[in-house]
Amino acid sequence: MIPTDDLPLVPVGMFDSGIGGFTVFSELRKHAPSVPVLYFGDTYHVPYGARPLEQIRLFALNTIDFLVGKGAGVIAIACNVSSSVLTREDRDNAQVPVFGLVTGGAQHAVNVSRNGRIGVIATAATVSSGSYQREIKMRNPDSLVEAIPCPKFVPLIEAGERDTLKVMDACREYLAPILKAGCDTVVYGCTHYPFLEDALCEISDGRLTFVDPAAYLAIDVVNYLAGLSGAELSKYTGNVETRIYLSEQSETFVEKGSEYLGIDIEALIEVENINREISEKWEENSG
Ligand code: DGL
Repeated sequence: MIPTDDLPLVPVGMFDSGIGGFTVFSELRKHAPSVPVLYFGDTYHVPYGARPLEQIRLFALNTIDFLVGKGAGVIAIACNVSSSVLTREDRDNAQVPVFGLVTGGAQHAVNVSRNGRIGVIATAATVSSGSYQREIKMRNPDSLVEAIPCPKFVPLIEAGERDTLKVMDACREYLAPILKAGCDTVVYGCTHYPFLEDALCEISDGRLTFVDPAAYLAIDVVNYLAGLSGAELSKYTGNVETRIYLSEQSETFVEKGSEYLGIDIEALIEVENINREISEKWEENSG
């Protein structure tokens, strides 16, 4: 697909626990450089991967409402665990179309793998949801799926680490069972992980092909925008501009995010703590 500037300027709402969703943001910008993005990074609650699945689902539902309130006309869930826990009904009940990760990455991994042995590196929550295992097996019942929880990755990436000793050790630890199982393909089951691409490639030393589901989500959204008709578009004035909402200010987010997107994002950031009520109530009820 070639970048196109004649897509309608319908704001795309996008969210993740932190900076990981920028891997989807940057894919979308390749195809749709002028389409405004309303991004929410839940920096107060990152990492999501160690949280209960139902809490992550409540965060996602609340975030979708927030982004729609800010003017989003379509939602791209730039977070694997949020994509994994939202039900079909949750998506159907949203006020705007909602696209997620998982299916595109699963399909591509099945297409790419020559021996049907597929590794998934993901957060503990995504692995326990079983979403990738299910979607891969559905497409190739004979496949072997080696899904490995990687709890050390997100805190390291949010802290700005990319190729430190700690990163290299964690890559070695998490890829070992995948290599041992004879996998030839690995899916990034967390949007943060492509930030460690260099380190992961160095450790795997050509033995693994890495699949990034972000590209498929971006294409789904672009196809949706390209298919919108005049009547559906009349609600959008073109006045909404790209904004980045964080639930807690983070200098590392600004620095690493600007570096990754190749633009200075500081002026785009607003702090809006939208999920704290949910986590506080959760603590009260479980404490
Ligand atoms: N980047 C997210 C995902 O794709 C969440 C990571 C986390 O906060 O644990 O699942």
